[in-house]
Amino acid sequence: MSGRIQAPRGTYDVLGEQALAHAALERLARGILERAGYRRIETPTFEATELFARGVGESTDVVQKEMYTLDAGQSESITLRPEGTAPVCRAYIEHGMHKLPQPVKLWYCSSFFRRERPQKGRFRQFWQIGAEAIGSDDPAVDAETILLLAEILEAAGVQSRLRISSLGMPLNRLRYRDKLQQYLRDNAARLSEDVAARIELNPLRAFDSDHPGTRAVMAQAPRLLDELDREDAAHFADVLELLDAADLPYDVDTTLVRGLDYYTRTVCEFTSADLGAQSGVGGGGRYDGLIEQIGGPPTPAMGWAAGVERILLAGSLTHAAAPPLDLFVAYETPELRAAAFRLAADARRAGHAARLELAGRSLKGQLKQADRAGARYVAILGDAGTALKDSETGEQQPVETGTVMHHIAHGGL
Ligand code: HAM
Repeated sequence: MSGRIQAPRGTYDVLGEQALAHAALERLARGILERAGYRRIETPTFEATELFARGVGESTDVVQKEMYTLDAGQSESITLRPEGTAPVCRAYIEHGMHKLPQPVKLWYCSSFFRRERPQKGRFRQFWQIGAEAIGSDDPAVDAETILLLAEILEAAGVQSRLRISSLGMPLNRLRYRDKLQQYLRDNAARLSEDVAARIELNPLRAFDSDHPGTRAVMAQAPRLLDELDREDAAHFADVLELLDAADLPYDVDTTLVRGLDYYTRTVCEFTSADLGAQSGVGGGGRYDGLIEQIGGPPTPAMGWAAGVERILLAGSLTHAAAPPLDLFVAYETPELRAAAFRLAADARRAGHAARLELAGRSLKGQLKQADRAGARYVAILGDAGTALKDSETGEQQPVETGTVMHHIAHGGL
């Protein structure tokens, strides 16, 4: 006897209440994003591995440790998408979207894959709602996208705090990086082994460490935000001014580090105290160099993604129950099955929610099912004719089978 097969570690089935909640959140996000001019995009579940290596960055945890990479034969390597920004940029280039009016605003609600250690709010297959506005470096794009995420979180009942910072453009960052590396080398003895080993590869990640010695060193470390050049500082000041104009509260947090390499200028993260260790409910930023890095023309862009599981965990989204049932078609004897089948199909074609007995129950069992399903009307096809029951009034009357639809469409017997 073989054992029972379960869902892989870190994955889960979306069903029942959770499926309704997922759908409700997607509807809510779609409403908010489409009103702001975003259009849906769905990219493939897997992409060329090189897209993420080049786009997300070789030195990131995501690329180094967390990707599900498959050998697709003929020396082709593909990877289950760990995030959505690089694929959306690939699609922007591939479809010549730079020819459209800019910025091109795209949103998605899709599942992503990262080989992380599963824990509360952290999965190996998880869902994100994401938005990308590509083709403009206007600070209003930054402020607008952030505001849209704030609106979605608020509408989903998530209490969160917005942290925001600016990383500046790459040259400025390189200068800062040298300075930080020098500082880390000078203090290497007090750093965790892990951080010390990555001074050359990714010194910024030192800000992310939980290690007490490292934290003490980082408290005194030079801050990127203090080293921005004039244009980057003005861009950031503009973003903050617009957030103020929209009354969105934020904390400027110079220690904010994002786990992906493509960010330039604005970075942001919404955190929720209701989530425990995995407190990041959504985050993003500007990525003005990414499209060029993966082979497109220089194109500024800004976006974010938020975890669906984390929003549902931290929020209080109420969702409609399963849609109401207008008609349940019951029948007395097997000879009436085809007529019942036809009536249910006709009712659905006419736009009603209609169901038919499908498990060979007795008439009594069928009526119980109709009751359990909350059917407003029950049509009972019998040898002596058809009866229609209005569950709201309890009234039951003989009717012509052909008039059932007329009755339910006009609400009564
Ligand atoms: P990220 O910060 O890696 O950014 O992920 C965004 C959100 O996805 C996180 O805040 C979290 O809510 C959720 N998330 C990430 N990993 C997991 C996981 N293993 N389990 C459950 N939820 C998770 C990005 O992915 C960027 N593409 C965001 C972006 C868009 N930046 C610019 N545009």
